[in-house]
Amino acid sequence: MAEPAPKREESGPAGPLLAWYDRHHRDLPWRVPPSAVRNGASPDPYHVWLSEVMLQQTTVEAVKPYFLDFLRRWPDVNALAAASADDVMKAWAGLGYYSRARNLKKCAEAVAHIHGGRFPETEAGLKALPGIGDYTAAAIAAIAFNRPAAVVDGNVERVAARLKAIDTPLPEAKPLIKDYVQSITPLDRPGDFAQAMMDLGATICTPRRPACVLCPLREDCEAIRLGDPELLPVKAAKEARPMRKGAAFVAVRGDGAVLLRKRPENGLLGGMSEVPTTGWTARQDGASDISAAPFAADWQGRGTISHVFTHFSLELAIFRADAVAGPAPEGHWWSLPTEIRGEALPTVMKKAIEAAIPGIMKKLIPQQPENP
Ligand code: ADE
Repeated sequence: MAEPAPKREESGPAGPLLAWYDRHHRDLPWRVPPSAVRNGASPDPYHVWLSEVMLQQTTVEAVKPYFLDFLRRWPDVNALAAASADDVMKAWAGLGYYSRARNLKKCAEAVAHIHGGRFPETEAGLKALPGIGDYTAAAIAAIAFNRPAAVVDGNVERVAARLKAIDTPLPEAKPLIKDYVQSITPLDRPGDFAQAMMDLGATICTPRRPACVLCPLREDCEAIRLGDPELLPVKAAKEARPMRKGAAFVAVRGDGAVLLRKRPENGLLGGMSEVPTTGWTARQDGASDISAAPFAADWQGRGTISHVFTHFSLELAIFRADAVAGPAPEGHWWSLPTEIRGEALPTVMKKAIEAAIPGIMKKLIPQQPENP
């Protein structure tokens, strides 16, 4: 008589991985602990969605205070839908990729107004919402709704490529990896499985010097068998980012206020605040020097800052002028030192202002390269 097909989670890496997760999971503010998940609890979809969108920008540690601040201001999706777009932008400032903040608000509005305040439960339903792509839809479906979706972020990609010794270079390997992750995703506790893969990638199966002796999957890992897990995943050579240059002008009033303006709604860092700056072009023909100042003042050079965007690196020469007097020009405003950290300033502008006025912006957060 044919044997019954084994349940997926009993035959693959899911069993040992979930047992490891039960003991070693990270306590994170958006997580429901595995003991509660085993008893049928699941996290609030609003928390899962918000954290996943933020986690695409930066590290777990950097996201925590932003996540808690958003929950304090907007405890549920209806509250976020009713928030002012400006306030959301300000609360998001520093996380980067600002179109995500705009989509966050649009998504909250769609959930509140079209779906009666409840997130759709399927990947397809979730993907129809603004700003939710393949990854986020799978993560929400698995973690919040217990659906066996294949959740593949950078950490999971690395764990999977090593487990199965997939040596096709990324990004070409993405569909192979996704199929493999789907095949090992259990029907039971798929959300915990996804988060266990992420935790394993973040803490043990690290890019450099993975701690294979501590790994719950070392028996199953083809990369260990081949001898050097660090060689995987293989990444296609990246094209060098072009360098752009420009200048930023930090005008300071007698009371310490800084002159700001708003960037155009569309395009790079659309709708965010900035100090007056030249365009950021590939030109290196003199437009990045003091001759580009927006008005006459005693401009003093304050060195340069660099910032990495997805498609280019930027070097900005920083100029500062003190005791600038008079009303703010059309479309500009003066921001006092007590107000400036609440402005919707992208990280590149925080760096520029910090270079001109050391200490004013306090701590900057680590970031993935920002996208336009
Ligand atoms: N990175 C992205 N999503 C995550 C999650 N839910 N837990 C831990 N790290 C993550």
